[in-house]
Order: sequence, then structure tokens, then C-alpha cells
Amino acid sequence: MVTDEQIFKLLTPFADGRVGAIRTKDGQLTVMLDMSGLAPSARNYIAQQAEAALAGLDGIDAVRILQTAQRSAPDLIAVASGKGGVGKSTLSANLAVAMARAGRAVGLVDADIYGPSQPRLLGMEGSKPVAEEKKMLPVIGAGGIPFLSMGQLAKPGQAIAWRGPMAGNALTQLVDAHWGSVRELIVDLPPGTGDIQLSMVQKHKPIGAVIISTPQDLALIDAARAISFFDQAKVPIIGVVENMSGYICPNCGDVSNPFGAGGAEAAAKELNLPFLGRIPLDIAIRHASDDGVPPALGDGPIAKAYADIAAKVADWADQRTANMGG
Ligand SMILES: Nc1ncnc2c1ncn2[C@@H]1O[C@H](COP(=O)(O)OP(=O)(O)OP(=O)(O)O)[C@@H](O)[C@H]1O
Ligand SMILES: [Mg+2]
Repeated sequence: MVTDEQIFKLLTPFADGRVGAIRTKDGQLTVMLDMSGLAPSARNYIAQQAEAALAGLDGIDAVRILQTAQRSAPDLIAVASGKGGVGKSTLSANLAVAMARAGRAVGLVDADIYGPSQPRLLGMEGSKPVAEEKKMLPVIGAGGIPFLSMGQLAKPGQAIAWRGPMAGNALTQLVDAHWGSVRELIVDLPPGTGDIQLSMVQKHKPIGAVIISTPQDLALIDAARAISFFDQAKVPIIGVVENMSGYICPNCGDVSNPFGAGGAEAAAKELNLPFLGRIPLDIAIRHASDDGVPPALGDGPIAKAYADIAAKVADWADQRTANMGG
């Protein structure tokens, strides 16, 4: 099998500094090339050279060159639920960390005006982003994740009672910030389908939404409501995550199912949506989160569970880019 290093070497002579993500799957090699600042003829030339250089490599049947221009705004991926407290913010932080660990340029926007939690989850409570040329500069949180939070726009503890346009303007400030080379922006939404969700889908259309639910029936009914909200807004559902499924006893390690288990997977199947995975109810997740150390940074089964979900989301995003690239 050919290694990423070999691919880099083959491309350097004519695309030095422009090689981005490399992905080999099922005999298909996809290479991202940053073509910013180049005239169309130069882009075509580099793309052709790249295809020629990579054709016929060991184990590669097809080569696809994805042309990107670095200055474009990042793609938004919304994390949503119908019900509050099911774990959106925890998943958002850990999804971002796990995707970053897999080598992606990910950032995070905490769009929860009612209960912003990312400054705490990413270990940056009290952080105040600065503005440059009227745009905010993201703060770097745990795991090297650049992020911005509604909580940074207000004083700590100040009840945020923004309505409609104000909430929408605040969201725009966070999304239209200096995201630099960030390609994917995970957006931690407040629960339900209110003003923020509306301005999200109307002004900053996400490329897709991840729906999270606990296995209980009631949570699943709410999740279905969130799903239909995104359906109506023509935002594709990337898939469903089941959180707090199965309780791991901190003393004996036994697994029990206080909220049931498998409900979200069954619901996803019924709705013909991909199931992205499950995260157990584990007090360690809560403790690590409270300490500002996302458990996805670890190397145990919990980190693995987040990494598996992150890989599915990343695959979905790559597939989408590949389809758009023609
Ligand atoms: N798998 C889990 N195991 C244990 N505790 C968890 C798990 N997922 C989340 N929690 C805890 O549950 C609480 C709620 O999680 P979180 O804040 O992520 O939910 P949320 O959906 O964002 O809530 P809200 O709707 O208020 O924004 C937090 O204390 C968090 O640490
Ligand atoms: Mg939250």
C-alpha cells in the first residue's frame, strides 16, 4: 500500500505547500489541493499533473483531486436535539476533538444562548475573544480546538434573554469570525427548534445535522421533531447518536440500562437515517467535562466511541465534497 508520505513526495515538485488532506478508501485515492490565488489554467495544469503522478499507484484504482480555495468559509455541522440535557454540548466538544485528532481542521461554535457550556467543556472559562477588523478571533480550547461561544459575548452568569434578531446577530458574529484554515465548524445548538435554529438554517445553512438523543421514548419523540425541522429546512441529517445508553457502574464496571438502550438506533432505522453510534452513561464523562478535559482526548473505550462517531461524520462530509466536486 502507498503511504501518505509517498503521495506527498510525488506531489511536491509541482504542488509544494498545496497538498491538504489525503484519503485512501476502497481503492480510491482522494487528495485535496489548495488552489487559492491561482488562475484557472494553472489550477488545471496542477490537477492534471497530480492525476498523472498518482495514476497507477499500488492498490489505487481511481484518483480524485479535490480543489479547494483556502479563504472560503468553513462548512457548518449542526449538533441538535429536540430535548434539553441529552448531551449535545458534550458531544459537540468531543466530536470536534476527535475529528481534530484524526487530522481535520475543525472549529466549534457554541450557539446556545440560554446555557452556553463550551468555555467550561473546553477548559477556557472566563476567556474573552478579541476582535480584529471587526471580526472575532476564536479562542483555542482543549485539544487545540478554536472556538467561540455565546457565553463569551455576555458577562458570566448574566441571564441571556435575547430574542429573534439579537440572537440571530449574535450567531452571525460567531459564525463570521476569523476562522482561518478551519474547514468544518461544529455548531452546538440550544435544545428545540427556536430562534437560533431558525436563523441557523436561514442565514448560515449547515451542510448537515447530527441528532442526539437518549434512548427514552420521550426523548426520541423530541428527536423526531428536531429531525423534521431540519428536513423542512432541507438540511440533510448526517445521522443519529444515542447518548447515555447503558450505565457503566463506576464501582464494578457492570453495564445496566436505566434509560433503556438501542432506542435511538431503532428510531434511526425506522426513519431511514444512519446510526452513528452510542455513548454510554459514564460518570467519568461528566467529571472530565466539568474539569474542561474532553474525554475524547483520552485513549480508553469512551475516546474510541467518540472517534468512531467522528470518523462517520468525517466520511459523510468527504463524501459530500466528493459528490460536489463532480
Ligand atoms: N454519556 C454521558 N455520561 C455521563 N454524563 C453525561 C453524558 N453525556 C452528557 N453527560 C452530562 O449530562 C449533562 C448534560 O449534558 P450536556 O450539557 O452535554 O447536554 P445538552 O444537551 O447540551 O444540554 P442543554 O440542552 O442544556 O444544552 C452534563 O452534566 C454532562 O456532563
Ligand atoms: Mg448544551
